[in-house]
Amino acid sequence: MAMQWHLRAQNRAYRPVKFSIGRCITLSTFIIFVFLLHLRIGADRRTIESPNVVPAIIQASERIESARNPTSSAGTKTPISELSTVAQEINVTSAISEVTDLGVTSETSEVLDTGVTSATSVDPDSGVTSANFQRPENCDGRRIFIYQMPVEFNEQLARNCHNWSGWRSMCEDISNLGFGVNIPLRKSDPMTSLLQPPSAWYRTEQFTLEVAIHERLKTHSCLTTNPDEASLFYIPFYHSLDLIRTLYLNDNLSARDLLGQRFVKWISTQAPWQRHQGHRHVLVLGRIYWDYIRGIGTDSTWGSNLLTLPELGNVTKLFIERSPWKSDTVGIPYPTSFHPGSETDLRAWQHTVRTSKRHQFASVAGGTRTKKLTGSIRDEVFKQCANSTKCKQVRCTHELCVTKPQTIIQMGLESVFCLQPPGDSPTRKGIFDSLQAGCIPVLFHEHQAVQQYLFHLPGNGLSYSVMIPQDDVAVNHYDVMDHLSRIPRSRIKKLQANIIKLLPQLLYRNPVLTGEYTSKDAVDVAIDGLLERFQVQSVGGHPSS
Ligand SMILES: *[C@@H]1O[C@H](CO)[C@@H](O)[C@H](O)[C@H]1NC(C)=O
Ligand SMILES: *[C@@H]1O[C@H](CO)[C@@H](O)[C@H](O)[C@H]1NC(C)=O
Ligand SMILES: *[C@@H]1O[C@H](CO)[C@@H](O)[C@H](O)[C@H]1NC(C)=O
Ligand SMILES: *[C@@H]1O[C@H](CO)[C@@H](O)[C@H](O)[C@H]1NC(C)=O
Ligand SMILES: *[C@@H]1O[C@H](CO)[C@@H](O)[C@H](O)[C@H]1NC(C)=O
Repeated sequence: MAMQWHLRAQNRAYRPVKFSIGRCITLSTFIIFVFLLHLRIGADRRTIESPNVVPAIIQASERIESARNPTSSAGTKTPISELSTVAQEINVTSAISEVTDLGVTSETSEVLDTGVTSATSVDPDSGVTSANFQRPENCDGRRIFIYQMPVEFNEQLARNCHNWSGWRSMCEDISNLGFGVNIPLRKSDPMTSLLQPPSAWYRTEQFTLEVAIHERLKTHSCLTTNPDEASLFYIPFYHSLDLIRTLYLNDNLSARDLLGQRFVKWISTQAPWQRHQGHRHVLVLGRIYWDYIRGIGTDSTWGSNLLTLPELGNVTKLFIERSPWKSDTVGIPYPTSFHPGSETDLRAWQHTVRTSKRHQFASVAGGTRTKKLTGSIRDEVFKQCANSTKCKQVRCTHELCVTKPQTIIQMGLESVFCLQPPGDSPTRKGIFDSLQAGCIPVLFHEHQAVQQYLFHLPGNGLSYSVMIPQDDVAVNHYDVMDHLSRIPRSRIKKLQANIIKLLPQLLYRNPVLTGEYTSKDAVDVAIDGLLERFQVQSVGGHPSS
């Protein structure tokens, strides 16, 4: 979380718009388009004020730019199609915010039910568990091939963790199979009795999934070394570990991109890659989408150019934050602190969450940010919280929230609602910290979760969160605490029950098992989702069977 609070401030997710005549024309077109669309959406909805439109424009212009860029993987998309995607986006958003109005009808609560159960078979009682899939005889012909790569693309990067310039050592962060060090708990800490067994709790850094998922997949029971019988090809390139060595130096961008280029060259020579033309191939990238699309010849110095390389166009990319406009990107949960090694440990935690005394009505945690980067929503939420006796603020420092993740876990266990205002980018690790502790996340934009974690969270965001449109709060100072206090107790109970059911598939279980493990975790659900998607694609005519 530290990086999210302190360092992602340098993130260029919402890069300022530079004006050129071409861009002005595009922007004007877009503004007119949004305006017309708004007229269509309905007069009864409160006006979409300019701050509502501005972030959308910035994002849109960024996408338009990347679509224009001939070297971009988005090169085949025209600005027009980008705009219509944006339009759909806004349409959906406004639809959701209408539903959010608190006249919760019985119809809505029915949706809540089906929302969760129809998700990728979470139900512990349904019998569809990972145990079935994990036994080799149940692989169902669906085998995973892991590329054996030259060590410079993974092992060597991990080995050099002490030596990353411009960044503190990440050796601790990638230890324990990518989960980090165990949470140091003093006997006197009230959380010690809850965070059990200690071997399941880690100080997990949010950007280490490249290592953690590789380690986990190495133990998968449906692996194959024969590419001819594989349905999914996993490429364990630790690109973000490489990137972070120079990310904060901003000196020589071509040096920063060198290994990525070598990687593309290497993968292009591989027979399975050539045969499938990059389809069915999966790359896990540890950071957010926006960190990998630095254009060539632009003034931005943030991130890498990996995803602007046309060679990777057919690869499916997994990240903690995807681009809602790119179907080849898949959002996977941020890693949290809990990595159970047995079903018993998992059930015990679910019990702790279910029975926790939630004496705090609402909470919010976060570091300080500059308004320029985060917009007014974050400030407004903190301000409203400070002004309410029912809301508690945790002002995070590295020591308070990162060195001691139990601060955030405790907050989640004690609170009914956890406010999740967007930071530098829409998603936050806090959303998963809060779900893990059974605290209902209060979200302010569709891009925070609903459009992100398509495999892991139900399509209906209202089944596990409360949504309050960002503009209502940031622009019209809509009272969040008042909104929350009008939610009926029965609805709260329902949300809490849904979250506890979802919990197993949002966490990354320990590859080292200490007992039987039958629930599907985030990796199982991701693999299922990918295999299903590849199946559909090959039926649709891709040369990938
Ligand atoms: C907006 O949503 C409505 C109802 O879901 C749909 O009929 C309409 O086509 C959508 N408009 C756009 C521009 O996507
Ligand atoms: C630091 O890492 C680089 C590779 O990134 C390596 O060549 C160099 O020898 C390392 N230096 C030390 C002191 O370990
Ligand atoms: C930047 O890095 C590239 C690749 O390592 C190197 O060829 C080039 O000389 C470097 N440029 C400068 C100005 O150091
Ligand atoms: C992506 O796949 C298509 C076929 O579906 C193929 O024509 C194209 O060359 C592939 N692109 C790359 C960069 O491999
Ligand atoms: C604080 O709350 C009171 C009443 O609850 C309200 O009148 C006042 O406007 C609020 N102040 C701010 C800065 O939100």
